[in-house]
Amino acid sequence: MKVLLNGGAGQLGHALQQQLPAGVELIATSRRGGSGLLALDLADAEACRAAVREHQPDWVLNAGAYTAVDKAESEPELAQAVNAGAPRAFAEALIESGGRLLQVSTDFVFNGQQGSPYRPAQARDPLGVYGASKAAGEEAVEELVQPSGQGIILRTSWVMGPVGRNFALTLYRLHQEKAEIGVVADQLGCPPAHSPWLLPVGALSVPGSTSPCSIGAMRVLRAGMTWLWPWASWDSSWGCWNVRLR
Ligand SMILES: NC(=O)c1ccc[n+]([C@@H]2O[C@H](COP(=O)([O-])OP(=O)(O)OC[C@H]3O[C@@H](n4cnc5c(N)ncnc54)[C@H](OP(=O)(O)O)[C@@H]3O)[C@@H](O)[C@H]2O)c1
Repeated sequence: MKVLLNGGAGQLGHALQQQLPAGVELIATSRRGGSGLLALDLADAEACRAAVREHQPDWVLNAGAYTAVDKAESEPELAQAVNAGAPRAFAEALIESGGRLLQVSTDFVFNGQQGSPYRPAQARDPLGVYGASKAAGEEAVEELVQPSGQGIILRTSWVMGPVGRNFALTLYRLHQEKAEIGVVADQLGCPPAHSPWLLPVGALSVPGSTSPCSIGAMRVLRAGMTWLWPWASWDSSWGCWNVRLR
């Protein structure tokens, strides 16, 4: 089985490279390439289509994304090109090649005002540019490759791994630099979703498997929810740091 993995230098893409099962022929990409990664600019739709035409992957795992949520408000075209244009381009090319697309998405496609967990099929209602661009990426997958069973959307939240930029690593750094750290008190979500990614990747590794695509969209999370502040407090206690959280 041949897999084209995008976002190879990101948190999730890095983890997936470590965890893909034996027997997978992996072509991993990043924006600039190097360190064993092919260069592929996800903002370049034609380059995305060409990568599929050239490598003919059985699966495209699209873990690459414009993930700077706040910055996206001032770079809407780029966020849209990467988060919506790339999955659309992969889907278009995969219709011709016959491969399948796993599009990684986010809870930011919802408005967060429900006060309880969202079901996969609930209507999207993003609040900002990042969420809107990811929602448009989902729509492309639904429109182009889900009807033929060639596309699946996996939504997750609060991805925190050992590399890249995330809340846990920032907290760790701040613990070493500051005596007091401010953490928002109004953010509710699921605790770090990292190792659960083994599950869908394992399912995809079954040669000829079609079942994951029939699901359409699903969420990959640990059970339970927490507010960000107590989670930060719990995380801090592990390090026995003498830091005040406010
Ligand atoms: N992080 C979270 O808490 C979270 C929560 C829910 C869902 N997700 C979703 O999970 C997926 C993976 O997230 P992550 O946390 O692994 O993100 P990440 O660490 O920011 O990785 C994303 C990767 O995409 C790359 N990328 C951005 N623009 C690109 C471009 N034009 N061409 C090529 N590569 C480009 C980035 O490269 P550069 O570093 O060069 O920009 C980065 O390596 C994304 O689909 C995201 O929407 C993440």
